[in-house]
Amino acid sequence: MELRILPGNIANMIAAGEVVQRPASVVKELMENALDAGAGDIKVVITDAGRTLIQVIDDGSGMTPDDAVLCFERHATSKIATAEDLQHILTFGFRGEALASIAAVAEVTLRTRTREAELGVEVEFAASEHLATREVQTPSGCNFLVRNLFYNVPARRKFLKSDSVEFKHILEEFTRIALTRPEVAFSLSHNGKDIHVLRPAKSLKFRINDLLGKAVVGELVDISAETSICSIQGFAGRPETSKKTLGNQFLFVNGRYFRSPYLHKAVMKAYENLIPEGTTPSYFIFIETPPGEIDVNISPTKTEVKFAEDSLVFQTLFAAVKEALGYGAIASGLEFDNPEARDLPVIGRRFEEYTPSVIPSAGLDPAYDPFANMPSGPEIPGGAGWERKGAGPDRASVPDGGYAHMVDRKEDYGRLFDDRTVSVASVMPVHGKYLVSASRSGLMIVHVRRARERIFFDRFLKAQAAGGHCTQTALFPVQVQVGAANRTVFDENADLLASLGFDLAPFGTDTVVVNGVPEGYSTEPGKVDVMVHDILLILSENRSALPEMMAATMAERFAVLGASGSDPVTSPLEARRLFDALMASENPEFTSSGKRILSILTAAEMDKRF
Ligand SMILES: Nc1ncnc2c1ncn2[C@@H]1O[C@H](COP(=O)(O)OP(=O)(O)OP(=O)(O)O)[C@@H](O)[C@H]1O
Ligand SMILES: [Mg+2]
Repeated sequence: MELRILPGNIANMIAAGEVVQRPASVVKELMENALDAGAGDIKVVITDAGRTLIQVIDDGSGMTPDDAVLCFERHATSKIATAEDLQHILTFGFRGEALASIAAVAEVTLRTRTREAELGVEVEFAASEHLATREVQTPSGCNFLVRNLFYNVPARRKFLKSDSVEFKHILEEFTRIALTRPEVAFSLSHNGKDIHVLRPAKSLKFRINDLLGKAVVGELVDISAETSICSIQGFAGRPETSKKTLGNQFLFVNGRYFRSPYLHKAVMKAYENLIPEGTTPSYFIFIETPPGEIDVNISPTKTEVKFAEDSLVFQTLFAAVKEALGYGAIASGLEFDNPEARDLPVIGRRFEEYTPSVIPSAGLDPAYDPFANMPSGPEIPGGAGWERKGAGPDRASVPDGGYAHMVDRKEDYGRLFDDRTVSVASVMPVHGKYLVSASRSGLMIVHVRRARERIFFDRFLKAQAAGGHCTQTALFPVQVQVGAANRTVFDENADLLASLGFDLAPFGTDTVVVNGVPEGYSTEPGKVDVMVHDILLILSENRSALPEMMAATMAERFAVLGASGSDPVTSPLEARRLFDALMASENPEFTSSGKRILSILTAAEMDKRF
């Protein structure tokens, strides 16, 4: 590393400010420097919450004798040479301010040696004054001793809080930094007592375990999302583990901790209705984005970050956490104790529990669409619902004239037989609103409207992603007058609506004609008018500019619309089909908006009733 003095113009671009506010700031700056120097082991030694001594020892690159003096000059940095470099910062430091600021308000001794040099150097500064330089024997790397912080600024020294508060701040900074680099060893001691001794960890999860304990790790679900402007990885606490007290809320961008009330809100929004008010879940969120997309230079301590596209980051984070919560609940079989189990995909571990014990394998057909042949009449062979199932190339050989409705092929017959027997035996509708079924651990209760929401959502999303069209049900055409201004909304969204399975045609200047609706939507004539106005509302809402978010939002809104208007489930066959489709869906436990779809009344809970 070559040290340079920043040209004045760049220096001015960098906001000057109060870098050292309290002992924790010194710990943070020295630890960040050590990481920037490529250290694999960083030791932090504290006495009296940092008032008396803060020592940070690393095994990084170390400095030459010249650099060991120069580094205490303001704007001495090896990390930035040109204005463009500011756009591509990947190191923690870049201002060349921290050491100068620390040396201005404390007594500082640095012992350092580069790997190549045989002898190291020791330099001493106090109140910005260079006091001494001498040759010393010292391990390669840096050893910073910061003594009597604020000794020359009595007002600041008085301003410090109690030792326990100041040490809590130190511990916080230490934790944030240790989380960003699981592969680096860290230790922290206070007044001669080891607080943390962290070995290099295999993964972030191990580091969280070592830092915060098994209880915290055990409650986490994985977060993962990738969009054109950022990638988001990390963990969030299961809703039921959210706490009244704050703590363990971590946001990082490009490996750097930052504070953001705005993005905190995105996470909290994903938990909406899932956690009691006034509680906060833990989260560890790592955002990666091209350095040009962020400005980390807006606060002296670099803990605030400005994203060029902050609302897109908000939406991506929101969606990522929400999705994780859906998957997380079903993946609660995650066992941290078993090192083998950790790398396995965690989804679907408890899935078999939800499969009714008597279900035949034919009952779980992932390609099966419950709306493709929703029976409307009694369940007799040749009932209306059966017509479609057999549709295929061989269909032409079946004679017309009503005969096609008769089930004459073996596999259809078998299928029908299974459906009838199994549906009667294991899935029953209750009040048209619920399905119940015996499961291994008790009685499973499925919320019909939400189940439909999930099935619609998967179907709509798939159709949009594949550029295909969903199947639809034809109606006796219904004309709805919407007004000329609203008509343009329909015209502009014609492709989207067609892909979801709507068959709408413009009529005159202010009317739409509804010829068909997505399969599974209610076909009751009285409801069409309301539906058209609901569609209008959905289409007029604020849209996300991010195509993948937009597809998900549309799929969700239309899923809610279709499910809210659909008819109650009355027959066991219909119940069975809905149930199977739910089980084959992406997430049978939660809707895309995180609402619970199924619940299990355990045998133990039943026992209590008697
Ligand atoms: N532990 C270390 N090992 C090796 N070199 C270091 C170490 N700490 C500091 N340096 C050198 O000293 C320079 C000045 O450090 P300082 O923290 O003051 O500035 P910076 O890290 O470049 O920027 P910032 O003020 O944003 O932290 C660094 O750029 C680096 O070259
Ligand atoms: Mg620095």
